[in-house]
Amino acid sequence: MADLAGKRIVVGVCGGIAAYKAVEVIRHLVDAGAHVIPVMTKGAEHFIGRTTLSALASEPVQMSLWDEASPIPHTKLGQSADLVLVAPATARLLGAYAHGLSNDLMTNVLIATRAPVIVCPAMHTEMWEHQAVQHNIALLASRGVHIVEPEDGRLAGGDSGKGRLASTTAILARVHQVLGSGDLQGAHVVVSAGGTREPIDAVRVIANRSSGKQGYAVAAEAASRGARVSLISTVDLPIPAGVSVIAVETAAEMQKAIEGLWQQTDVMVMCAAVADFRPVSCTSEKIKKEGGIPQIILEPTPDILAGLGAVKRSDQVLVGFAAETSDLVANAQSKLERKNLDLMVANDVSQPGVGFQHDTNAVTFLTPNQPLHLLPLSDKRNVARALLDIVVKIRQSKATS
Ligand code: PMT
Repeated sequence: MADLAGKRIVVGVCGGIAAYKAVEVIRHLVDAGAHVIPVMTKGAEHFIGRTTLSALASEPVQMSLWDEASPIPHTKLGQSADLVLVAPATARLLGAYAHGLSNDLMTNVLIATRAPVIVCPAMHTEMWEHQAVQHNIALLASRGVHIVEPEDGRLAGGDSGKGRLASTTAILARVHQVLGSGDLQGAHVVVSAGGTREPIDAVRVIANRSSGKQGYAVAAEAASRGARVSLISTVDLPIPAGVSVIAVETAAEMQKAIEGLWQQTDVMVMCAAVADFRPVSCTSEKIKKEGGIPQIILEPTPDILAGLGAVKRSDQVLVGFAAETSDLVANAQSKLERKNLDLMVANDVSQPGVGFQHDTNAVTFLTPNQPLHLLPLSDKRNVARALLDIVVKIRQSKATS
């Protein structure tokens, strides 16, 4: 695992039976060289003593907005942190954070910080499965908050089910991943997002329904894993931290931008919905309806992805998406081969919640000569995470072959 020397990590501990496990997490973080600042909620004190956390962390534990010399400890803690980790995170904390409610030091720090945040929920199964909790989790994940999901197992009071705090190993692995020890450190990842617009005349275009959400999620996830990220985008969504955007509109503009970066690209993720056809010509004036129904002659656009596949170096990883409405795997497999890809991400966009415009997606990952890998409906950030996990493995195998 990478060294955490010099990293300032605020560790928030909420009131839950799993609070005692935070002690072990803190000890490991300190051993790895991190400067750990513990913050407890009032509820946490029912489960764990202040002295324990203060003794193991790098600073005394803080609990209140008012018990420090500084009148604004939350902004100071939030601004100076490289990471905020909450383990365990209760349903109350998740709800308050998701809805911007700041009624104690921990929620203030979470709202004040611009550092990456990891939350590790732990609660009874019934609470974890409640729609309100799941909604809050989805909301936080869509904003880029890292969620380390609870595990199945024994819970307090003799119950068992999903809700147990994730293992210390899983929590520490996510810390290392998020903190730039990231597995895409040093890689240049280029992502395309959104649908192209092909002009018919001065005001009309041929477009499609792509919102860009999936591409932006891939870009944000790649940046959080240490990559230098260039996003070639046709849409105007909030730009994820650490990502530089090149705005384009047509397939030709997208092709030019991508090919301009290609020599310095390590990983290309072609998530954009590129128009397959465009009008042969575009009039500089609006076509008048008084002139009758116009005949619009179409021609194929360049297949950007196939073009890259034809000139791909052995160290480059090329990822495509396939938007299908039938025969998902067969169609995606044929595109994987025809375009010489390392990975194809196939989505059946005729299914509810899948593909265009949704916050969620369900995909099948296809790689040459490997079994299919299915990811059921989940947040687009989660799809991005799974996609990049595969990309990392492909890079590792290319590096050793
Ligand atoms: O943007 P969202 O609303 O979040 O929706 C996400 C998405 C549905 C757009 C995304 O998940 C997706 O499926 N993107 C690919 C859409 C598409 O164009 O699929 P395709 O099967 O037609 O194309 C296959 C691949 O070739 C794609 O990677 C595409 O970018 C690429 N292509 C296609 C045509 C072309 N002229 N040049 C290309 O490079």
